[in-house]
Amino acid sequence: MQGKIFSPGLRMTRGAIIAVFLLLFAGPLSPVSAQEEEEENVCVSCHLDMEDILLQVALDWQQSVHAEAGVSCQDCHGGDPTDYGEAMEPATGFKGKPAKADIPTLCAKCHSDKVKMRAYSLPSNQFARYSRSVHGKALLERKNENAPSCIDCHGRHKIKRVADPQSTVHRSNIVKTCAKCHSSKKVMQSSGLPANQYELYKNSLHGKLYFAGDLGVPTCVNCHDNHDIKKPQTLAVRLVCVNCHVDQEESYRKSGHWAAAQETGKPVCIHCHSNHAIAKPSIAKFKEPGPGNCVNCHDRNSLQMEKANAIYLMQQATEEYMKLGAEADERINEWSGNGFETSHLERKVKKIKSILKEMGVISHSLDTESLLEKAKIAQKLSNQVTVEVNAMTDELVKRRWGLIATWTIFLCFSGALSIRARHCKRKD
Ligand code: HEC
Ligand code: HEC
Ligand code: HEC
Ligand code: HEC
Ligand code: HEC
Ligand code: HEC
Ligand code: HEC
Ligand code: HEC
Ligand code: HEC
Repeated sequence: MQGKIFSPGLRMTRGAIIAVFLLLFAGPLSPVSAQEEEEENVCVSCHLDMEDILLQVALDWQQSVHAEAGVSCQDCHGGDPTDYGEAMEPATGFKGKPAKADIPTLCAKCHSDKVKMRAYSLPSNQFARYSRSVHGKALLERKNENAPSCIDCHGRHKIKRVADPQSTVHRSNIVKTCAKCHSSKKVMQSSGLPANQYELYKNSLHGKLYFAGDLGVPTCVNCHDNHDIKKPQTLAVRLVCVNCHVDQEESYRKSGHWAAAQETGKPVCIHCHSNHAIAKPSIAKFKEPGPGNCVNCHDRNSLQMEKANAIYLMQQATEEYMKLGAEADERINEWSGNGFETSHLERKVKKIKSILKEMGVISHSLDTESLLEKAKIAQKLSNQVTVEVNAMTDELVKRRWGLIATWTIFLCFSGALSIRARHCKRKD
């Protein structure tokens, strides 16, 4: 894994070669004054003169939070940053490129140090939480190098503050960072895991809103945590949904499903909604076949499906009431300006809409009585709106007929007048 660039033999004489090189070329040409040279970190300055990866590490480090905080090359790699020739000699404590499984302890040297971290108002629990996670156990205990160390999520040298939009763990980038491994069949195969979470999430309702910039929806780390990622346990994960969907949870707890889940772990939110492929649910779930729908678990002729059907019918009826209300609302809008007072009707139509939404929540309790109550209120409101709107229509029609009659009389009258006038002229 550790691509050594020079062989150990060459490494022994490296100091000497570099010293000669410096004497011949670099020394006399250096624009740095003697005083600056004393303060200069030779690791940085020499690597800035290198090419490819040896240069890139220094350029990346310069843009990091660590450079800003004065955490430099030797703090992670060891070595002597004041001695150009001896900087990377093992005798100075130089350790070279760390092995993957040693990286978490390297970072923990500072990040688990409470006193050090308090100075920056940072928590000091990342290593403790990481090392008990699926990732930490896989890498540290089972030496599975496909699992991430700290730098697979945070970047190698260009490590940024979490709040920096350029950070690989910033909210806007974290999904892609997890997907780097979790959508790679090759990486996931070795642990017997599917590699489709990113694809499913991207096309889910949460994912679509996430990519449209919605800050309220969950990313991978809202549901799985960041450092303490566990093998997902269904009941624990229900608690995750609850963080945001409080009302549905409250309603769900009143159902026979909640009671059943206490015994068998099923059904919780994800058995009806899925975890990564969450779609916008509709009342069709109560009736039609499909993943997570009622008929998936209950026989078509069962008592449970009888209840499902009752819930479906009540919600369908309420949707109809809302449509009627909305149509009436449209007519009301067309007429605004005819002198009718319609604001109370608009309020009623809005109320029907909110009842329908409430029913979507209440349906989680499987409580048909509460649903019936709501449906009845919606029906009453819808009837009231329809009756009033019909009365207004009649009134408007009456007014229109009245107007037409007036005009007709006026036209007839003026026609008669003009005929009479012509008649008189001819007579003259
Ligand atoms: C005079 C130039 C020079 C100085 C000073 C220097 N380096 Fe290097 N560094 C190199 C070169 C050239 C290589 C690649 C050859 C090698 O691995 O020995 C390298 C390689 C490395 C590697 C990769 C080693 C590996 O195992 O792959 C690390 C890590 C490193 N340097 C860190 C440091 C640190 C830390 C310091 C300061 C204490 C430092 N360097 C000072 C030139 C320098
Ligand atoms: C916060 C700790 C940290 C700091 C600071 C740091 N490094 Fe590293 N460096 C690492 C880690 C961890 C790796 C191993 C990366 C890997 O396994 O991909 C590494 C790898 C390297 C490598 C090997 C790159 C390769 O792909 O072979 C070089 C060279 C190197 N560092 C040089 C430097 C130099 C020069 C500096 C200062 C300018 C520096 N590092 C600062 C942690 C650090
Ligand atoms: C020598 C001590 C030291 C080591 C080793 C070290 N860090 Fe840091 N790190 C710091 C300090 C100090 C800060 C705070 C800088 C600040 O906020 O200005 C920091 C900040 C960070 C931050 C930004 C936190 C934030 O504010 O959002 C991350 C991420 C981070 N380090 C990751 C790592 C990783 C990953 C490693 C191992 C490759 C590592 N660090 C190794 C000292 C260290
Ligand atoms: C699986 C990806 C992943 C791994 C592995 C990981 N981190 Fe993080 N880390 C994150 C995410 C995501 C955040 C941002 C947290 C947030 O926004 O709530 C974070 C935040 C941080 C912070 C900022 C302070 C905090 O706790 O929120 C530090 C410091 C940090 N990580 C250090 C480390 C260290 C040290 C390791 C290794 C022991 C490590 N991380 C391993 C994903 C990871
Ligand atoms: C460097 C690659 C890599 C990165 C980055 C990574 N993972 Fe993983 N992840 C793995 C591997 C490999 C496993 C399997 C570990 C094992 O064998 O137990 C795993 C396991 C998991 C598991 C447990 C699955 C199970 O059923 O056992 C979850 C959940 C998970 N990762 C979520 C995440 C999240 C969330 C992120 C981003 C914050 C992330 N991973 C970043 C490689 C990665
Ligand atoms: C809305 C919450 C949620 C989000 C967002 C989410 N997950 Fe999951 N994830 C879950 C749940 C719940 C399970 C467990 C399903 C089960 O127990 O059957 C799971 C399972 C997993 C597993 C285990 C294997 C599998 O596919 O079942 C991995 C790996 C994983 N998620 C990674 C990710 C990654 C990567 C992301 C981001 C792209 C992500 N998850 C986003 C809730 C979520
Ligand atoms: C971080 C907060 C958060 C978490 C955690 C979360 N969601 Fe969501 N969810 C949202 C937001 C925000 C929306 C979109 C706005 C809305 O319609 O409520 C949404 C939408 C939904 C929808 C569609 C709602 C609709 O109106 O059509 C369903 C279903 C859903 N989530 C189920 C779940 C499930 C199941 C889980 C757990 C596996 C979960 N959510 C975890 C925030 C979250
Ligand atoms: C993942 C499987 C699963 C799905 C999907 C599912 N159920 Fe259930 N349901 C159960 C289990 C398990 C029980 C408890 C044992 C029993 O009564 O059959 C139960 C019980 C019930 C009961 C009897 C308890 C009560 O509170 O009256 C009703 C009614 C019911 N379900 C309706 C539904 C409806 C409606 C849907 C669709 C929205 C649905 N179920 C979807 C598994 C499921
Ligand atoms: C037995 C299956 C089932 C379970 C368990 C379940 N839901 Fe639902 N959920 C549905 C159905 C069916 C709908 C559509 C309801 C409607 O429109 O009448 C729905 C709708 C939703 C909605 C859309 C908004 C709404 O209320 O209409 C959200 C959000 C939601 N559920 C979240 C959750 C959460 C969070 C949990 C776990 C606490 C959960 N659901 C458990 C079947 C279920």
